[in-house]
Amino acid sequence: MTPSNRRRLLHCLPSMLPALSAFVLALSLGTASAQTGLVAPTDAGSASATYEPKRGQAGKDVVWIPTPQELVDEMLRMAEITPQDYLVDLGSGDGRTVITAAQRGTRAHGIEFNPDMVELSRRAAREAGVADRATFVQGDIFESDFSDATVVTLFLLPDLNLRLRPALLEMKPGTRVVSNSFDMGDWEPDETADGGADCRSYCRAYKWIVPAKVEGRWKLDDGALLVLEQRFQKLGGHLAIDGMQHPVSDAAMRGTQIAFSANGQRHTGEVDGGRITGRDGGGKAWSAVRER
Ligand SMILES: C[S@@+](CC[C@H](N)C(=O)[O-])C[C@H]1O[C@@H](n2cnc3c(N)ncnc32)[C@H](O)[C@@H]1O
Repeated sequence: MTPSNRRRLLHCLPSMLPALSAFVLALSLGTASAQTGLVAPTDAGSASATYEPKRGQAGKDVVWIPTPQELVDEMLRMAEITPQDYLVDLGSGDGRTVITAAQRGTRAHGIEFNPDMVELSRRAAREAGVADRATFVQGDIFESDFSDATVVTLFLLPDLNLRLRPALLEMKPGTRVVSNSFDMGDWEPDETADGGADCRSYCRAYKWIVPAKVEGRWKLDDGALLVLEQRFQKLGGHLAIDGMQHPVSDAAMRGTQIAFSANGQRHTGEVDGGRITGRDGGGKAWSAVRER
């Protein structure tokens, strides 16, 4: 482990304490291969074919610890993956999240700095029969373009999540981001879940849905003016009707879906660039266009 990775590990110790005992236990019980089930069988004559990762081994910005399979399953459930999705795992380790997604019919891609882990993942994908849908590249997540993903998964560290946050917030509205164990600072998750009774360490996952950007002034078809303030998925503001300002309450974005109450009426709608179309609580259609 490099000195900088050791510093990072120490920095995270408080939040990792519950997991550390399980981690030490895992180390004493055996190797990562027993944990992952994804290590390819030995192939005499090829050095990389005999490579066995070790839990806690150094990585560029964070050590490798695999997400427990129970939590991988839960994270993919949270992400609501479909065959139409394209999942990217940032720091893909032994490839388990990518391969599991591919086994469910989703095209998935891992970006991993450690070339041995990339080879290991590719072999595991071939053995699982999903190499056409599960691909891996050796690279630095901070120098990679993953903007075409519709689902991003990660198991990094809090400060790394914060470094990625601006890029994640620029992704297409509706993109799901699911993180093992670490949050996104003051961007509150849309959902939190656990890995279940059999999950022993690193068993909490957070999901965010990239919100459409709606801050600003919107002219409604009935002449009212909707003024929105936005902080991530949370909204405030007011609806101005005939010079009277009615505060917007109970307001949030869920990807491209907007919902708010104002002037005693619930409004829901779908944001499509500079236009919102939807229905009010009484079922009446409404629409709005962004004011320039
Ligand atoms: C905690 S492990 C998570 C592995 C996998 N995503 C999982 O959930 O099982 C973090 C992984 O990120 C890799 N990594 C660290 N810094 C990286 C970087 N800058 N670019 C790409 N991969 C990186 C490490 O080598 C390690 O495999």
